[in-house]
Amino acid sequence: MAINTSVKHILTAGQFNKEDLENILQRTEVMEKECKSGEVKKLLTNKIVACIFFEPSTRTRLSFSAAALKLGAQIISAENAALDFSVHKGESIEDTARMILSYADLMVMRHPRAGSVSLAAEVAKKPVINAGDGGNEHPTQAVLDLYTIKKRLGRLDDLNIAFGFDPKHSRTIRSLALLLTHYKNNRFTFVCSEALAPLPEFLKDLEKRGARFEVISNLDRWQDYDIFYANRLQEERFKDKNEFEKYRRDFVITRKLVEGSKTMILDPLPRIDEIELGVDALPNALYFDQAQNGLYVRMALLLYSMGM
Ligand code: CP
Repeated sequence: MAINTSVKHILTAGQFNKEDLENILQRTEVMEKECKSGEVKKLLTNKIVACIFFEPSTRTRLSFSAAALKLGAQIISAENAALDFSVHKGESIEDTARMILSYADLMVMRHPRAGSVSLAAEVAKKPVINAGDGGNEHPTQAVLDLYTIKKRLGRLDDLNIAFGFDPKHSRTIRSLALLLTHYKNNRFTFVCSEALAPLPEFLKDLEKRGARFEVISNLDRWQDYDIFYANRLQEERFKDKNEFEKYRRDFVITRKLVEGSKTMILDPLPRIDEIELGVDALPNALYFDQAQNGLYVRMALLLYSMGM
């Protein structure tokens, strides 16, 4: 079934063009100012936002919920939909989506299977937002990553950006790299153990978009990067848990490595092994600000999907 393109779903980072992104980033600045001055316009009064999560989440679910509440909407939600919903009895994602959107005006959904949020969108006459579909994509995270980079460095082009340490399974790395291909002269380095290299189809997509990239297995060039985008190894995506244990400590960003460098560190979080706690106090650590920016970005994205 085809997706109704007159509805403003957010399903993949690849759907945005540069103009969309610039508009969303500008709207996000307005949202941040309104939140900080305590004068948020209640543009979603009388709307209901459904936050339906089939996988655990701290930041995405709570920041979408807070964003909806700030804008005056009401929330219906499931934080453990895999157990609490009738999918547990065998109901399909499509029927589940039909039901949820007969009660709500917009649905934010996370699901462990790649492509499942798009399946929900195929039957939806109201907006569906992908809050992470398996190892595939996490487009709203990528927009908040972009906002954080622009806020700190004042630009989104001419970036030397490294991504570690599990580009094979990381949906956040994939979505952010896609967005950054819209900007000029960005250089991507994927830092990982050989077994966790980006999937060939993703690299082909980057090539088609004209991106310059390389894949390496060391942190020797730390000082050269403007941004290091760290991400935990995605334990839940490993078929063999022994493989996860084998690679989980191959790379750690230490205080010694970071101190005195200009390299800014982003991490979508949760942080597990990939960044030493001692790094948090350094000015390079942007990851907690990044998570807070998720609130403002998701306010802007809810308005975008509601056509406002
Ligand atoms: N960054 C992110 O998606 O975090 P959560 O899994 O806590 O939502």
